Amino acid sequence: MDISLRPNTLFSGRKPLALRVRNLTPQDLAIRLSFLITILVTGFSGITLFLLNSFQPLFLFLLFITCLLGCYYIFSWGIKQFIDRRFRLIYKTIHNLKVGLKREPIKLDLKEDIFGKIRKEVIEWDIINRREIERLTDQEKYRREFLGNVSHELKTPIFSIQGYILTLLEGGLEDKKINRNFLLKAEKGINRMIEMVDDLDEIAKLESNRMELNLKRFDIQNLANEVVESLEYKAQKKKIRLSVLMHPKPLFVKADEGRITQVLTNLIVNSINYGKEGGKTKIKFYDLDENYLVEVADDGRGIEEEHLPRLFERFYRVDKGRSRAEGGSGLGLSIVKHIIEAHKQTINVRSKYGEGSVFSFTLKKA
Ligand SMILES: Nc1ncnc2c1ncn2[C@@H]1O[C@H](COP(=O)(O)OP(=O)(O)O)[C@@H](O)[C@H]1O
Ligand SMILES: [Mg+2]
Repeated sequence: MDISLRPNTLFSGRKPLALRVRNLTPQDLAIRLSFLITILVTGFSGITLFLLNSFQPLFLFLLFITCLLGCYYIFSWGIKQFIDRRFRLIYKTIHNLKVGLKREPIKLDLKEDIFGKIRKEVIEWDIINRREIERLTDQEKYRREFLGNVSHELKTPIFSIQGYILTLLEGGLEDKKINRNFLLKAEKGINRMIEMVDDLDEIAKLESNRMELNLKRFDIQNLANEVVESLEYKAQKKKIRLSVLMHPKPLFVKADEGRITQVLTNLIVNSINYGKEGGKTKIKFYDLDENYLVEVADDGRGIEEEHLPRLFERFYRVDKGRSRAEGGSGLGLSIVKHIIEAHKQTINVRSKYGEGSVFSFTLKKA
């Protein structure tokens, strides 16, 4: 029997010749073998009797029947034993791996195409296994990349904090011109680390699907105004004007208010961090059929087209050095995307290098 794995031939449209003819069942095999042997034995006996001049048709008939039944019984038993010993283990292993540890007794039915069945199960098992291995390999790659990124990102603030503290220890502490300043800088580094660890924590939660949305009905314009108000001070430092283009009526959406606050904050903070001095950030709303579209548009430095497809990836930054100094952890947009996707909505970005960027996301109307 051939149990080599040839899934292509099995699942392709035209079946190979061997499969077009019905596969022999163990019972077929036993019957054919029994007939063959019976015919040989009876024939041989008939010829011998004939040569000895004592040809007896009744004896030959009885011999035929007995031999046929005897052979059939012995072959059935033998084949069953053979299959049992050779294939039960394979079958059982595959079955147990497929259905977990639930052990089902295997019934051997000689009228079935057992070999074909085992072959099919082995192929299915192989496909499932391959998929599982691919999934694990992807996960492993993701884990390695993630760990690499995390340690790399944490190194920057740690080294700067270490630098300030060493300078203070080596005499800077007594120097009134720098002691306070360096302590403040070290504290800033620590704050960045805290921010990053918080973001990592958030990402870990989001990616393990542990985000529970607390959906409720609220006015998205109201929320945008609140977020803008809380960021006014930060914007003023860069002389950026934040504005919400209001509709006459409230725009009610059904979403997790806390999470959407996070989304708006991240997008507006980005528009400030990567905006130009004296620039503008506008928040606008559009009425789509079932949703509202929320837009955060700035006239900042913009993003080159080649970066746009990867912008929402973890740790992805356009200008590594500069963003690291100005921005956050590089996790902001990936957190934003996770939140919007958890709401089963979409987020997009349009940008022209040197002219500005527009981030837009949808929310379900309530
Ligand atoms: N409004 C924007 N204008 C220009 N570039 C932006 C804007 N928002 C995001 N970016 C780019 O996308 C990158 C990823 O953003 P984000 O995930 O928030 O990370 P972070 O702000 O921590 O660097 C930023 O580093 C920046 O290069
Ligand atoms: Mg950011």
